Amino acid sequence: MNRIGIGEFYFEEEGKKIMLDIIKRNAISEGKYCREFEKEFAEYIGTKNAVICNSGTSALMLVLQALKYHSKYKIPEGKKVIMPALTYIATANSIATTNFEPVFIDINKDDFCINTELLKEHIEGIDDIKEYAGIMPVHLMGYPAEMNKINKIAEKNGLIVIEDSAEAHGSIYDGKRTGNLSFAGCFSFYLAHNIQVGEVGMITTNDEELTDKCNRLKGNGRLCYCNVDEIHSGKCTHQMNEFHPRYLHDMIGYNFKSMEYQGAIGTVQMKKIKWLLRQRQENVKKLNEGLEELNGSSLILPKHSEEISYLGYPLVVIDEKISRNDIAQELVKKEIENRPIFNSIPTQQPAYEKYRKEYQGKVNTAEYIGNNGIYIGCHQYLKEEEIEYMIKSIKEIFGK
Ligand SMILES: Cc1ncc(COP(=O)(O)O)c(C=O)c1O
Repeated sequence: MNRIGIGEFYFEEEGKKIMLDIIKRNAISEGKYCREFEKEFAEYIGTKNAVICNSGTSALMLVLQALKYHSKYKIPEGKKVIMPALTYIATANSIATTNFEPVFIDINKDDFCINTELLKEHIEGIDDIKEYAGIMPVHLMGYPAEMNKINKIAEKNGLIVIEDSAEAHGSIYDGKRTGNLSFAGCFSFYLAHNIQVGEVGMITTNDEELTDKCNRLKGNGRLCYCNVDEIHSGKCTHQMNEFHPRYLHDMIGYNFKSMEYQGAIGTVQMKKIKWLLRQRQENVKKLNEGLEELNGSSLILPKHSEEISYLGYPLVVIDEKISRNDIAQELVKKEIENRPIFNSIPTQQPAYEKYRKEYQGKVNTAEYIGNNGIYIGCHQYLKEEEIEYMIKSIKEIFGK
């Protein structure tokens, strides 16, 4: 049996053809394929617009940075942004590196998303809500956060909601896709994610000004993002400025632009999205059926739903005789790649050490999942015999 990865990626015929087209046209910078990918992804998510950038982390940072310049919000640096205590570190890093202040709320044990009861309690206990800019829920492992409750709390308190949907391409909540349930959604197309490009990110939004600001901030805050032909043919509306509009900057930004081959791979992935999400859901179902006898005694198995876009197959180890780390090692011995379901950022991440004391005892579920959560692959290329092998191997580890 070959090693069973968290995710696999194949170019397949169409991918190869499209890459060849890019090579033939010597087109490497963002161009028609990136625009196509943006258009198709926005349509799929259900938003008016999408902005491609070079990673999911960049997508989050661009939205946060744009809020400082957005005419409706003008959020000053230093304000607080509420997020779940357990997620991939990029959520917290995007807040910290744009000079906002992360505030951590504990998570639910069953879907790893922000606990909305604790969120409500936290907000009710705030003396000065003006210290807060917004809430950044994360749809972790593809499970949608409780957006209706989050949006209600946010609306009541004048907070902006930005979805970290990096792991949830195509997940549905209350009839809508995640990334279309708030001011903006941010996606990652990292290799091990549900839709894979390698390294690329996307912002989805219905807000025109945010779209414009993100498009400009990803080019170092330049005045316009017209392509060179448009500028030279006089189509760019900034033509009359004293300086070349590409070299005049009215916001402090980053270089978070993507490349044409990334957009091209994205367009190929979009054609397969329905199939690949269905495969992942089917695989979760099969794994659940095969492991049912361990459910509730040794492991907590994931909820199966045709509305969840699964990043992986998440398990919580509840067997007291064997630890999550031992299981991880046993799986590696059996050539089954696995990862922890992240950990509690304020109390288990060295980079966020300064929050440890403040959050001790306040994020117990995040710590529990940090110590006991693990995931393996459920990707679209898994073969029947690999799924059977995974089931057999996990049962063996638990002596079944
Ligand atoms: C929840 C979450 N947010 C943000 C990111 C950042 O995405 P990227 O790795 O593309 O920067 C990831 C990536 O794994 C993620 O899982």
